[in-house]
Amino acid sequence: MIELKSARDREKMRLAGRVVAEVLGELRQAVHSGITTRELDVVADRGIKRRGGIPVFKGYHGYPASVCVSVNDQVVHGIPGSRVLQPGDLVSIDLGATVDGFVGDAAFSMFVEYAPNERAEELLRVTEESLYKGIEAARVGNRLGDVSAAVQQHVEAHGFSVVRDFVGHGVGRQMHEEPQVPNYGTAGRGLLLKPGLAIAIEPMVNVGGYQVDVGDDGWTVTTRDHSLSAHFEHTIFLDENGPEILTAIS
Ligand code: CO
Repeated sequence: MIELKSARDREKMRLAGRVVAEVLGELRQAVHSGITTRELDVVADRGIKRRGGIPVFKGYHGYPASVCVSVNDQVVHGIPGSRVLQPGDLVSIDLGATVDGFVGDAAFSMFVEYAPNERAEELLRVTEESLYKGIEAARVGNRLGDVSAAVQQHVEAHGFSVVRDFVGHGVGRQMHEEPQVPNYGTAGRGLLLKPGLAIAIEPMVNVGGYQVDVGDDGWTVTTRDHSLSAHFEHTIFLDENGPEILTAIS
């Protein structure tokens, strides 16, 4: 069942989205060579709690931290730990918070100090662009397949691949609600988009093949061919005026 949100729900989702956006901003500032991913988890956890939120990832199916930090060939769900960020690393940071009963969920990728090469730089740019292509297609009257196809077409036009095994999702009282929002699909197909729909669109894009594996820790997802991967995500809310990005850093 897909729960459409009320105007009151939307106000709460705006608050949750703002908390996530602000803490992601703090995390971006905190990233530098020499920092451990565990230190980023402390920034995330404190940032959420200081703003009255609850880290939604912590304890989710046993996930042990407040943020996911995925480096280089890690796609998503990297567990913070003793890993030290190095110059030229591509780091993807994913954060979720519950505020007043509603969830915000967003992610971005960045380089530590510099991009290691032009293809890596292009990966980051195209992945972020593909998120905005998806958001642009998320309009009342369109179908979910329009969103998926917009992301996929932009990614593949640049010779990159979209991960299949993990997808975006409805978001609201729960982090993961229906519908699933794949980053691949056929325009004109799937769910008709209605006012009050709240979804997280989150392209995960690889330089090489789309295949991924889950590591021995049960969480960390890596590209099978160990190529670089990037991840961008926003929580958005749809009404007749178009998509509102709830997790935008203003
Ligand atoms: Co998500």
